[in-house]
Amino acid sequence: MFRRLLFLGVGLLSLAGAARYGLGTPISEELVAAYDLRPVVLPDGRGLPPGEGRVEEGGRIYAEKCASCHGQSGEGYPFNRLVSEPFPITPDTDPVEYAIGNYWPYATTLFDYIRRAMPFGQPGTLTNEEVYHLVAWLLYMNGIIDADTPVNQATLPQIRMPARELLELDPETGRRFPWLTLP
Ligand code: HEC
Repeated sequence: MFRRLLFLGVGLLSLAGAARYGLGTPISEELVAAYDLRPVVLPDGRGLPPGEGRVEEGGRIYAEKCASCHGQSGEGYPFNRLVSEPFPITPDTDPVEYAIGNYWPYATTLFDYIRRAMPFGQPGTLTNEEVYHLVAWLLYMNGIIDADTPVNQATLPQIRMPARELLELDPETGRRFPWLTLP
C-alpha cells in the first residue's frame, strides 16, 4: 500500500514538473496514425494489407536499405543473419546461424516484423509495397520460393516455412521437436 502511494506521489510530482518546465509536446493525430500498426499480421494472413512483392525489386531495395547492416546477400554482418544455413538446425547449431529459413515458423511474420521494425533506426519509412518486395526477396534467398513467385495477401499465408516443424509434435514422443525444450 505504502509503495503504491509512493508511486502515485512520484507520478503526480513528475506530471506537475513536466507542466511547470514545459516538457513534452502533445502528440498529433497524424503521428499516432503513423505509429498505429494495428491490425497485427497473423499467421493466417489476417491483417495483411493489399500490395504485391517481386523478388527482383526486393533485391534492389534490399541493396539500398538493408545490406549495410545485414550483408550483401543476407549473410549477416554486422547485424543478424537473414539468409540461413539449411534446415533443420541441430542442438549444436550456433544461435547466430538461426535465421528466416531455419527458424521462422510463419512467412507472414516477416511482413509484420519488417514493417514494424526495419530499417533499424528508421522504422515506418517503408511502404507496404516495399515490405512485400523485401519479403519476396528474403524468402527467395532462403530457398523458400522461386524467383517469379509473387508475394501478396493471398500467397504469403500459403507459404509453408521449413521451421514450422519446430512447433509441431514429434509423432514418436508426442512432444515438441525432439530436442527443443520449450514448455
Ligand atoms: C542500421 C542497421 C540495420 C538496417 C539498415 C536494417 N536492419 Fe534489420 N536488423 C538490425 C538489427 C540490429 C536487428 C536485430 C534487432 C533485434 O534483435 O531487436 C535486425 C533484425 C532484422 C530481422 C530479424 C532477424 C532475425 O531472424 O532475428 C529482419 C528480418 C530484418 N532485420 C530485416 C531488415 C530489412 C528487410 C532491412 C531493410 C529494409 C533491414 N533489416 C535494415 C539492423 C538493421
